[in-house]
Amino acid sequence: MISLKGRSFLTLKDFTPEEILYLIDMAAHFKQMKKQHILHDRLKGRNVALIFEKTSTRTRSSFEVAAHDLGMGATYLDPKSSQIGKKESIEDTAKVLGRMFDGIEYRGYGQEIVESLAKHSGVPVWNGLTNEYHPTQILADMMTIREHMGELRGRTLAYMGDARYNMGNSLMIGCAKLGLNFHAVAPKKYFPEEELVSQCRKWAEESGAEILLTEDVKQGTGDADVVYTDVWVSMGEPDEVWEERIEELTPYRVTMDVMKNASSNAIFMHCLPAFHDLDTEIGREINAKFGLTCMEVTDEVFKSYQDAIFDEAENRMHTIKAVMAATLADDWDI
Ligand code: CP
Ligand code: NVA
Repeated sequence: MISLKGRSFLTLKDFTPEEILYLIDMAAHFKQMKKQHILHDRLKGRNVALIFEKTSTRTRSSFEVAAHDLGMGATYLDPKSSQIGKKESIEDTAKVLGRMFDGIEYRGYGQEIVESLAKHSGVPVWNGLTNEYHPTQILADMMTIREHMGELRGRTLAYMGDARYNMGNSLMIGCAKLGLNFHAVAPKKYFPEEELVSQCRKWAEESGAEILLTEDVKQGTGDADVVYTDVWVSMGEPDEVWEERIEELTPYRVTMDVMKNASSNAIFMHCLPAFHDLDTEIGREINAKFGLTCMEVTDEVFKSYQDAIFDEAENRMHTIKAVMAATLADDWDI
């Protein structure tokens, strides 16, 4: 019997494959209930704090909708309207919020911040994205792959682009634990850190997966079941890095040729937001400066493969709901 009550959800490193699959199963259960309009508000009377030091559409909406569906109140705190970091330390903030809320979500910078919140608040803390990890995203990704392809074990996921940041790191951990082969397809300097790679190789050995780091797009994406990418410049990084990223990562853009090289029923995935056209402010700025009409993925790939991408976005809500329910409720029969 798996129980995650009272646990924080800071990185998938802390969770066994069985616990990760339990959360995905629970999310599938919630998804079904939601579609059938069956209320599941067993956490009435509880309250959660949602701290966002970086912007968000999916993660914030997911936590808010999921909290409401579970019957909980949700309070949104952004850096401008709270004292966090500027006038009050993370430790003091954690101690205050822990007295008022039953759980705390944090999106922002270093992993040490969520760790400190968890240490000092005394309530479950959920990582809504740090520089290093984005664990709730991986639950949604794995749920989506399972919906589209069935069995996860033995699949191959090729991640193209900056593989040393939150998405690359977390996908590598998730794949290694759940038995999917993980290919980081990028210039060497964008490979995940050696220490994390060797940790993941140990989990991969247990799950029967393989980890490949390669600069060769053909080799890295050949026979991939999932081709995955993310923005080339992440939130919080300085604008000055754009030029270098464009130069170094353009050969790793997901194009129709890349998709043709992958397995015949491959899906394309992206955590979003994506730069695939000129319908965004940053997209237009980059176009004016560097002449690009898309960045990490072409508009053609994005549009042709959008079913999985938007299922993935929807699944953020169901999986985040599972994380909150599993860590706050006594038991939830699924
Ligand atoms: N994928 C994701 O985390 O999206 P948001 O930045 O909109 O939350
Ligand atoms: N790597 C991206 C992920 C966004 C969901 C970022 O940190 O901005």
